[in-house]
Amino acid sequence: MRTVVVTGTDRGLGHALAALSLEAGDRVIATYRDDKDAVLRPLAERFSGRLSLVPLELGDAANIAAAARRIRELTSSVDVLCNNAGILGDIEFSVGDAPFDPNEVLETIRINAIGPLRVTHELWSLLIAGREKLLVNISSEAGSIGQNWRDRWFGYTMSKAALNMEAALIHKRLLPLGGRAMLVHPGYIRSYMHGAKNEKATYEPEEAARLVLAAIAQRATCPAGERPDYFDLHGKDLPW
Ligand SMILES: NC(=O)c1ccc[n+]([C@@H]2O[C@H](COP(=O)([O-])OP(=O)(O)OC[C@H]3O[C@@H](n4cnc5c(N)ncnc54)[C@H](OP(=O)(O)O)[C@@H]3O)[C@@H](O)[C@H]2O)c1
Repeated sequence: MRTVVVTGTDRGLGHALAALSLEAGDRVIATYRDDKDAVLRPLAERFSGRLSLVPLELGDAANIAAAARRIRELTSSVDVLCNNAGILGDIEFSVGDAPFDPNEVLETIRINAIGPLRVTHELWSLLIAGREKLLVNISSEAGSIGQNWRDRWFGYTMSKAALNMEAALIHKRLLPLGGRAMLVHPGYIRSYMHGAKNEKATYEPEEAARLVLAAIAQRATCPAGERPDYFDLHGKDLPW
């Protein structure tokens, strides 16, 4: 049985990734910030013994360290660490507009890029003790500089580009140990990044999660390259 850690599981893609991994037979350690809609308890009852719930706030280093201590009490190894949790931040500001709030950009980078780095750092000993040693960062097509089409979304796009570079660095550490990192764009999802459920989006979180997990499993059958695979939910490569 694999042990999988997923962050941000109280809603959206993370919840679906955790539920599908449980259905597939994995043991799941699911982190959440605030299970507002009480969706995790029923999952814990349904998969009793295979789901552990751990509070984790990405913006708080002490909180991440405490979550990691709790996870180390629960397991001696992690096969797959999936950094899923993230925020959108301000997507309206463009250069030259007033007012400009650089702190808003910094906050998005702090949550989306530094948060996952802290989580990976704190869980490193467990990850390299796992069989798969697989780091999955849920990135976005918005992190691709090579196919950028936007003229705003500064915090989000910069944070995902940073998350991608972070995975490239960690991949170099994992490769000689038999592990690897992957970066996945999960599609345009009817999740809650915009506040309310985004009904305009293309995929329900469950559909996206199913495709994401299949694409990851397919990639895992191919040898790891010098850089992390960066691909979308259909398994298509994205330019860096
Ligand atoms: N939605 C899309 O179309 C889309 C497209 C490309 C990539 N993605 C990526 O997919 C991932 C999942 O997003 P989603 O679409 O499922 O959005 P979502 O419905 O907003 O879910 C985001 C999750 O991240 C958690 N989170 C946010 N800030 C956090 C913090 N400071 N500490 C701990 N957890 C925090 C949220 O917890 P709370 O409920 O407590 O806020 C929630 O569980 C993100 O990395 C996102 O960038 C999404």
